[in-house]
Amino acid sequence: MTKILVVDDERNIRKVMERRLEKLNYEVQAVESGIEAIEVLNNGENFDLILLDQMMPEMDGLETFENIKTLAAPPPVIMFTAHGSLRLAVEFMKAGGSDFAQKPVDFGTLNIQIIRAINHTKLERKFRETKIACQAAEEASHLKDQFLALISHEIRTPLSGIISAAQTVERLADRDKLTSERRAKLMNDIVDMGRHLASIIEDILEISKIEAGHVDIVFEAVELRQMTDSFYPGLERQAGEKGLKFEVEIPAGFPLIRADAKRLTQVLINLIGNAIKFTDKGFVRLRADLPEEDESRVVIFVSDTGIGISEESLPEIFDRFKRVETSGKIPGTGLGLAITKKLVELMEGKIEVESEPGKGSTFRVTLPCEGR
Ligand SMILES: Nc1ncnc2c1ncn2[C@@H]1O[C@H](COP(=O)(O)OP(=O)(O)OP(=O)(O)O)[C@@H](O)[C@H]1O
Ligand SMILES: [Mg+2]
Repeated sequence: MTKILVVDDERNIRKVMERRLEKLNYEVQAVESGIEAIEVLNNGENFDLILLDQMMPEMDGLETFENIKTLAAPPPVIMFTAHGSLRLAVEFMKAGGSDFAQKPVDFGTLNIQIIRAINHTKLERKFRETKIACQAAEEASHLKDQFLALISHEIRTPLSGIISAAQTVERLADRDKLTSERRAKLMNDIVDMGRHLASIIEDILEISKIEAGHVDIVFEAVELRQMTDSFYPGLERQAGEKGLKFEVEIPAGFPLIRADAKRLTQVLINLIGNAIKFTDKGFVRLRADLPEEDESRVVIFVSDTGIGISEESLPEIFDRFKRVETSGKIPGTGLGLAITKKLVELMEGKIEVESEPGKGSTFRVTLPCEGR
């Protein structure tokens, strides 16, 4: 049933309105002031339409209407003006009012105005919703185009490398100039570039899967020490090859983390892999801690003494394909952190970073724990 709120300071008029509108099959609630009307509306009561008197003590119709307009989804408003106050009616319509009627009210005409105002508002809302949906679709399509352009660019580089190396092999072989040394080197390059290409494609598939919501997170109780033990030897060797120390600090009795073990491993390996990659001397450290402010969470820090990240680049490093200029010759696609951030968020966690160029970086991952 269509619900109407009548706002009028005169008791008699409220009574007449209630009676006549109920006869027209409307559900009516009547209040005696603008202030009361706003109270009712702020309490979350929904109406399909408001009939508002202009002349009221304290807060007049126009002022009440200004307040109504601030609601999230204001209902249409028809205002009653006294005879000869057309100027106010015009002002009201200019401010976005739906319609106006002059007292004494003709209920036949008013009924038509009510139906028209409600329909108009419905259409307007529908139009706005459609417009928002269109804008969102356009934006998504634009992002997809951008993504495709970036992917093509990323793939083209190793692919051209592979083609050119293969052509060199062919050319040299044709002229009998392909020494076994040269051959081994070119083949090695081809395999390296091929692997790089495969890893880019794997990362692209991974991020597309995450964005399409096709990654299922299976929460389980994760023992952090056990997890770091599983990847420590490999990463320690990798760090060792660059002369770096890789340290893991987990306090005794550290609580179980609530996370997807496979995904958390991926996150930590990504962060430690970056830390090793972007550090030339010093150390890379994983440190676990319990934040004082939140008993339901744990924090894992991955820090390094590497090249660091400038302040202006910090907000962008989690974007897809974002690589900071300083990482120039260091290989990578710039998808690692985008994937990492999405995975952390899927596990109801948060990732933050602090860094000082030339000194090092610290990534801070906060995750829910099983109770401490
Ligand atoms: N520990 C770090 N120290 C300094 N810079 C970093 C660090 N981690 C990330 N960055 C910067 O952030 C950028 C994005 O990181 P991300 O892991 O997404 O990409 P990548 O390591 O370059 O490539 P990928 O991980 O896809 O192989 C890096 O290119 C680098 O510029
Ligand atoms: Mg990386």
